[in-house]
Amino acid sequence: MRILGIETSCDETAAALLEIQKGKPRLIKNTVFSQIEIHKEFGGVVPEVAARNHIMTILPVLKKTLEKKKPDIIAVTAGPGLITSLLVGVQTARALSYLWKKPLIPINHIEGHLYAAWLEGHAYSFPALGLIVSGGHTELILMKKRGSYLCIGKTLDDAAGEAFDKVAKILHLGYPGGPIIDIMAQQGDRERFAFPRPMIDHPNLNFSFSGLKTAVLYCVRDREKNHELSKKTVADICASFQQAVIDVLVSKTLKAIKKHTIQTLLVGGGVVANQELRQQLKKRCEKEFPNLSCFLPSPRYCTDNAAMIAAAAYFHPKKNTKDGWKTIWVDSGWELGK
Ligand code: KG4
Ligand code: ZN
Repeated sequence: MRILGIETSCDETAAALLEIQKGKPRLIKNTVFSQIEIHKEFGGVVPEVAARNHIMTILPVLKKTLEKKKPDIIAVTAGPGLITSLLVGVQTARALSYLWKKPLIPINHIEGHLYAAWLEGHAYSFPALGLIVSGGHTELILMKKRGSYLCIGKTLDDAAGEAFDKVAKILHLGYPGGPIIDIMAQQGDRERFAFPRPMIDHPNLNFSFSGLKTAVLYCVRDREKNHELSKKTVADICASFQQAVIDVLVSKTLKAIKKHTIQTLLVGGGVVANQELRQQLKKRCEKEFPNLSCFLPSPRYCTDNAAMIAAAAYFHPKKNTKDGWKTIWVDSGWELGK
């Protein structure tokens, strides 16, 4: 079975062709056109610019991905995301589904992130826990069995990736902030600044990052006023901020693993490309839950891609529905597990 995945929920125009034989995935092609360079000059993603670039890029991306091969099933991200960006992917997928008379499956973007590990051969046992940390999301999703999702924790304000991007902006480091802070932090002292760890001691599993971002803002303003913002200080701020985010993410994840007797930890989203987060999460899981199966997908499957969307479709109960193109919708606020 061959599944075509299409992803246009934010600033990546992506398509992938995934072949599944005897339950095993093999990626034939995985194309991602990132618009980061286009949005850099604005310091963040501009929704209408993103949509216009999806329109210009989607057909070349599909052509490169398919190379004249036809899929048996088409899967497309229908939400959550930027409405005008989502529409480009969904309308393109509808046209192909109608033309080729192939089933069309709407996939939740967060559900896609949960299947990144499967692409690299990782087996899932249940209950499983998904930690999805990106520019738009910070969520803990409980999967009691395949296809069952319950959101057990989420951010009450900024997403962790958004905090990385805003802190980089405060420090004039450019966009996107996560990868730059990741590199800067490697030279910094993570103990120099005692930034807050918001909600770390709250009994629930929710997150909040906006206060942490404000604490960094005040720290930078004070130093800028006194001309004390040396390169070393910037690196120390990056390392201290990053450690505060990691402490909260790891602590809440471990709390959820314990509470729900989790067997498999699945992670995804751009922030999970962070080197220090990957190391610390893995180390703590191995130490505190030696029987937990924890697999960190390669960074290219952590950030947005269409292979994960095709993977999620393989497990979808309606994957053989023929007239999906008639009924598909776009839901920019689609919450998984609500
Ligand atoms: O999943 P993703 O590619 O797109 C969204 O759905 O948002 O995540 C992008 C986010 C951005 O906020 C970016 O700054 C962050 O992931 N990010 C990182 C790293 N690489 C990307 N954050 C921390 N460390 C990184 N290495
Ligand atoms: Zn994402």
